[in-house]
Amino acid sequence: EVWNPNGKYRVVSTKPMPGTRWINLLIQQGCRVEICTEKKTILSVEDIIALIGDKCDGVIGQLTEDWGEELFKALSRAGGKAFSNMAVGYNNVDVNVATKYGVAVGNTPGVLTETTAELAASLTLAAARRIVEADEFMRAGLYDGWLPNLFVGNLLKGQTVGVIGAGRIGSAYARMMVEGFKMNLIYFDLYQSTRLEKFVTAYGEFLKANGETPVTWKRASSMDEVLQQADVISLHPVLDKTTYHLVNKERLSKMKKEAILINCSRGPVIDEAALVDHLRENPMFRVGLDVFEDEPYMKPGLSEMKNAIVVPHIASASKWTREGMATLAALNVLGKIKGYPVWSDANR
Ligand code: DGY
Repeated sequence: EVWNPNGKYRVVSTKPMPGTRWINLLIQQGCRVEICTEKKTILSVEDIIALIGDKCDGVIGQLTEDWGEELFKALSRAGGKAFSNMAVGYNNVDVNVATKYGVAVGNTPGVLTETTAELAASLTLAAARRIVEADEFMRAGLYDGWLPNLFVGNLLKGQTVGVIGAGRIGSAYARMMVEGFKMNLIYFDLYQSTRLEKFVTAYGEFLKANGETPVTWKRASSMDEVLQQADVISLHPVLDKTTYHLVNKERLSKMKKEAILINCSRGPVIDEAALVDHLRENPMFRVGLDVFEDEPYMKPGLSEMKNAIVVPHIASASKWTREGMATLAALNVLGKIKGYPVWSDANR
């Protein structure tokens, strides 16, 4: 699909993206916009090299693509100066290689913070109250009357939520769980989240002033402390060499038998095969996963686990956010072409 065929700068998007704001922005600034409408979900390196062609000023790409040596070489040969990942995570992008080829890398932080945290919160509630199992039960026509023991789950109020990685999304999730459900907070991050701590302190004081039990917070000195103490654990680190299989067999065994584990970060942060074994051996342990080690696949056995809720990497999938991500991705490419700033965590 081609917009503004006579535009001066050629910008390629490897996928159609929501809304038209991002297209209009590029057109207004003199770009010819080419959108790949290829049906297959995941494009190969060869597919993308063909899209880049002989002349390309910038590319908007997706987290399913492997942006390394071959693609940055092709982009730089075509005169390209900018690549924007339509995602906040950029573990699929080799920033050093991009720099070597003189290509600026952008990502789309900020606009997806609350949307992603809301999905993590949704998975937490769904796991705590066994909503998916209960829905399946209803649809299967198995409900034949109220019972005291039917789908009994966990009350979040007064329990402890553990957050691993208290950056933008982890902090937003923590705030939702603390304020929304009056949970206590324990978090682990290399950096101290003073804003989060102030928030929980102030909210705790508010509750106290209203005669309610105040919520508390604790900054853990190790990740294991969170795993041992929390009733709900949500993972929000970036994926890199240090966080690959951060949650492994040994760490799973440190968690409470009835804990809930949520992952809306990146799949390889969890050793998924070990998780399947753990779910099998501990039926009261529950998990809510938005991401998988080997997307789009799940490790054998995971789909049969009643104590697992699985959704297809949709944490940022609200209309407002996805349009915002597309717009930011377009602005990034435009920024480099026109000499404005490029939004990027990668260059910090
Ligand atoms: C991201 O942005 O990194 C998410 O995984 C997709 O929105």
